[in-house]
Amino acid sequence: MLFKQQALLRQKLFVLGSLAIGSLLYLVARVGSLDRLQPICPIDDRLRPHGQDEIPLRALQFKRGLLHEFRKGNASKEQIRLHNLVQQLPKAIIIGVRKGGTRALLEMLNLHPAVVKASQEIHFFDNDENYAKGIEWYRKKMPFSYPHQITIEKSPAYFITEEVPERIYKMNSSIKLLIIVREPTTRAISDYTQVLEGKERKNKTYYKFEKLAIDPNTCEVNTKYKAVRTSIYTKHLERWLKYFPIEQFHIVDGDRLITEPLPELQLVEKFLNLPPRISQYNLYFNVTRGFYCLRFNIVFNKCLAGSKGRIHPEVDSSVITKLRKFFHPFNQKFYQITGRTFNWP
Ligand code: A3P
Repeated sequence: MLFKQQALLRQKLFVLGSLAIGSLLYLVARVGSLDRLQPICPIDDRLRPHGQDEIPLRALQFKRGLLHEFRKGNASKEQIRLHNLVQQLPKAIIIGVRKGGTRALLEMLNLHPAVVKASQEIHFFDNDENYAKGIEWYRKKMPFSYPHQITIEKSPAYFITEEVPERIYKMNSSIKLLIIVREPTTRAISDYTQVLEGKERKNKTYYKFEKLAIDPNTCEVNTKYKAVRTSIYTKHLERWLKYFPIEQFHIVDGDRLITEPLPELQLVEKFLNLPPRISQYNLYFNVTRGFYCLRFNIVFNKCLAGSKGRIHPEVDSSVITKLRKFFHPFNQKFYQITGRTFNWP
């Protein structure tokens, strides 16, 4: 009897042991295949330090681990020196447009091993008080990175603020500028929805979109309404063109970034002279969220916050038609200047 129980116990232990070893082998295999799926990026000559062919393998781990700690100011000087980390001014800036998908674009670009994002909107060039603190203040706001990585920041207010193009030009006249746009009427409604939600959170009432977008005296589009003005992309772009040639801009289709992000990201990789490293593996559609989410590796993935992808209020169809008609000639000009055409009505 005792012998039988011992044999049974041994058998159970054997099965459990085999399961544990099997799982371990599976995990090792998966991690191995992940490394193959996401090879560390041999970046372009322009970015590559002399004699170094690849971003060290640590780079990706740093993006999720150490770099994050460093950003929070937890790094000792010794650690920073040891890893040769630096805070670099951005090589590219997402200058707008508000509600175009600026956060999604920044987060998705951050999937690239050669890109390090500034997590917060810095508002250096559009805020006089910040700007007066000087360029060193701005640089210190940047995340730590390897010297051969590039830093990207996004502050959508830059696109519409008068003083910004000249200020950015003074910092770096050859900087790369990213603008993400959506169909102008949808963008304006998204802009309104954000403000409306802010008011509701404070238990305040707010006007209906129709009331703000249409001038009640003339029954025409109210061009004084900021959400309308921001969507006249060509007017803002023309101000930027006084400082930067069109080749320094890349226009991202924000509507396509929602439905089909990879090809849009590949165009940005090309524009930034980065080798293609963001793959379909890094982007998966989350049915509950209704949007693409980000997969960094087997253990870490994330969706954007709930404040991205709000449900828009219903807007009177005659107001939508009026707005679309209003934006039409500005859109045509925008296509002409940028060389990128959209199917906007
Ligand atoms: P809505 O809230 O109107 O849907 P920004 O980051 O510039 O404020 O832009 C917000 C918009 O990004 C959202 O507008 C949303 O549609 C869009 N967006 C694009 N890709 C997204 C994604 N993967 N997850 C969530 N929102 C995304």
